[in-house]
Formats: sequence, C-alpha cells, structure tokens
Amino acid sequence: IVAQFQPKSLAGRRVLVTAGPTFEGMDPVRGITNHSSGKMGFAIARAAREAGAEVTLVAGPVSLPTPRGVARIDVTTGRQMLAACEAEALRAHVFIATAAVADWRPAESAAQKIKKDGSGEPPVLRFAENPDILHTLARSERARSGALFCVGFAAESHDLLAHAQAKRARKGVPLLVGNIGPAAFGRDDNQLLLVDEGGHRELPRASKLSLARQLVNDIARRLPAASL
Ligand code: CTP
Ligand code: CA
Repeated sequence: IVAQFQPKSLAGRRVLVTAGPTFEGMDPVRGITNHSSGKMGFAIARAAREAGAEVTLVAGPVSLPTPRGVARIDVTTGRQMLAACEAEALRAHVFIATAAVADWRPAESAAQKIKKDGSGEPPVLRFAENPDILHTLARSERARSGALFCVGFAAESHDLLAHAQAKRARKGVPLLVGNIGPAAFGRDDNQLLLVDEGGHRELPRASKLSLARQLVNDIARRLPAASL
C-alpha cells in the first residue's frame, strides 16, 4: 500500500533507450545482423515509463510490441541508430544503451542483388567499423557536464566482471551493466551485474521486466537532483 504513494522515481526525466540488433545490408536482400531479441531494452523502456519518465525507444529490427506510452523510432543500421540517438540525446537526461549494434558493416552495399556468376568463387566482403553510439554520446558535452547520465550493457562469454570494468572505463560511462551468462538472447529472464566506479553488485535471476524495474530505480537514485 505504501509503495503506491511514493513519487515516481523518474518523474520529469527524459530517457533514451536503444534496443535490438542492427541490420547492415550488403545488397537489397541480404545483410549481417545478430540474435538480439530486444526484450531487455523494451522492458527497460516500459519500466522507465512506469517510473514516470518520458521515454524514447530507438529500436533495430525486432518483433516486439511498443510499450504503452513510449515513443518509438525504428531504425535498421547502426549509423541510422546513431543519428536518431544524437538528435534525441540533446534533450535526454538518461541514455541506456542495450542495443547489440553490429560492430562492422559491409564496406559497400551493392545496389542490386549480388548474383552467383557461375565461377564457383564466392564474393569477398570487406567490412567497415560502425560508429560506437554509447561512446559517442558518453563523450558528448551534455554527458560530460552531468546533464546526460549514460548506461552501457555488456554481454561477455567469460570473465564478466573484469571485462565489464574494463568496458566501463573504455566507454567512459558511470554505470555498466553486465549480463551474467548463459546467453540472455531471446530469454525472458536474465541476471545482471551492475558495475560502477565504487564496485559492483548483482541483481539475481529474475524476469527481464523485474530486473528492468530494479535497474531503473537504481539509475534514478544516481541522477543529480532534478531542477524542477
Ligand atoms: N554499443 C554502441 N554502439 C556500438 C557498439 C556498442 O552503442 N557500435 C554499446 C552497446 O549498446 C552496449 C555497449 O556499447 O551498451 C557495449 O557493447 P559491446 O558490444 O559489449 O562492446 P564493444 O565496445 O562493441 O566491444 P566488443 O563487442 O568487442 O566486446
Ligand atoms: Ca560489440
């Protein structure tokens, strides 16, 4: 009963979330992507909205319904995701990067479908590195001034704590959230490791929505007092 009368922890805040994979085309019908389902990011967007925030969700290609009350921008590629995020981040207070952005894209995309030429020789693909959206936003003026709080995610196959700590430093973010294996892709539950400057703590295995609500409350406590 008491909880119902607590003020919403993100009231008055604008939250930007990325979710899902990106798809990087090599011709009009093919491309490279990954197995991110988008579920964790969508759960975080929902939880942030429930906590009173104005939420924008920038989503790669996923088949998930938009959480109630959330503004959604659909994108395909990592570069489109960066452009959408840079525009939205100008007014956001929190940026939560859960998207599994393709690290590389085909260096050039053919205008027409690449056909087998009968020689038996497969085409050779060259790759270009995609922009790092989290790193770009984390080093923006708005983030460095403390107006934009940036949160990264990491899925590692081994040595999660060490990798998460290193990634937090490399990305320049105050909070890095690790997925504690086995691979969380597509599952409805997860287990998280929160790593900040002072140390780390675990959120034990639970549904992605439950974890999203815990994470949102944790983030809310880290924000500078709102100047309302
Ligand atoms: N990220 C991003 N843009 C990219 C790559 C990653 O915004 N081009 C974000 C992810 O959304 C996540 C965090 O950075 O919040 C870490 O992503 P991850 O793939 O674990 O890190 P990378 O720096 O790409 O390193 P690697 O894949 O080699 O472990
Ligand atoms: Ca990566």
